[in-house]
Amino acid sequence: MTVPPPDAVRRAPPAAAQPAGDVDPALIVWGLSKRFVGRAGPVDALSEINFSVAPGEFVCLVGPSGCGKSTLLSILAGLDGATSGRVVVAGRVVKGPGTDRGMVFQRDNLFPWLTVRNNVRFGSKLKAVRRTFTPERARAVEERCDQLLDVVGLSRFARSYPHELSGGMRQRAALARALVNQPRVMLMDEPFGALDAQTREEMQELLARLSERQGTTTVFVTHDVEEAVLLADRILVMAAHPGRVAKEVRVTLPRPRTLEMRLDPAFAQVRAEVLTSLYTRERRQQSKAALDRILR
Ligand SMILES: Nc1ncnc2c1ncn2[C@@H]1O[C@H](COP(=O)(O)OP(=O)(O)OP(=O)(O)O)[C@@H](O)[C@H]1O
Ligand SMILES: [Mg+2]
Repeated sequence: MTVPPPDAVRRAPPAAAQPAGDVDPALIVWGLSKRFVGRAGPVDALSEINFSVAPGEFVCLVGPSGCGKSTLLSILAGLDGATSGRVVVAGRVVKGPGTDRGMVFQRDNLFPWLTVRNNVRFGSKLKAVRRTFTPERARAVEERCDQLLDVVGLSRFARSYPHELSGGMRQRAALARALVNQPRVMLMDEPFGALDAQTREEMQELLARLSERQGTTTVFVTHDVEEAVLLADRILVMAAHPGRVAKEVRVTLPRPRTLEMRLDPAFAQVRAEVLTSLYTRERRQQSKAALDRILR
């Protein structure tokens, strides 16, 4: 495995990490590998991942369980380190967590002892401590909190505590908290995975509208191919053992995208393309063999 030399970022990235146009990418993932050594022996969770994301682009990662999606997102967030390779956000190598990246997890990790408003405000306080916290800045933060609570439909519940909210409301609060610092990149790991179907659809529409309007660069992990087609400009289909990007599918369906578009033949065609690369013949044969063994 080649480890990029210290000045590698200044040189040209590999072809797969090159953006389509001539704009500087918001995010570059470069020769990224991650090996865990656990009870099951060494696991190559990620192997030589290369891709880049243009400013404002919405990229979805889909792939079977255990193919390294969460590992990849944790490394992008700076919560975990890579075995080799590197991540560059807006020209800077990621060395740890930072306010340039907002993260939303499958289960909201709101602080239970803070109100919704204080949860949303919390991230901006973290950033403010490092900068000089002028009264103007304080006012701007308050305004932004109000706007975000309004956007996610939680103004009425600003003074409620997380345990007083439904699952969908908590995820909306988590989304607002991640957006408060106007991060360059939003990282979302199955943020709607634990929600019921209807709330999930509402959240999908909200996120689609938000990211269209705000032009936030997003990397979004999902198991749900339909969700990926609805939200993404590009879908990276991952494969497991070792975790790698097996295929890239561009989604050129017009925006704004609505839930009704799922009935569109063009939508079905993209969905089929992603599903075909997810369920390869090899995977189907493996599942069939395992099922045959159980039913024998
Ligand atoms: N802390 C760890 N120690 C050892 N192995 C780990 C650790 N974290 C993840 N792994 C292994 O790395 C691989 C990728 O795990 P990861 O959680 O990234 O998968 P995933 O694609 O997010 O799966 P899912 O869709 O089920 O969430 C798995 O084989 C897992 O067992
Ligand atoms: Mg995961």
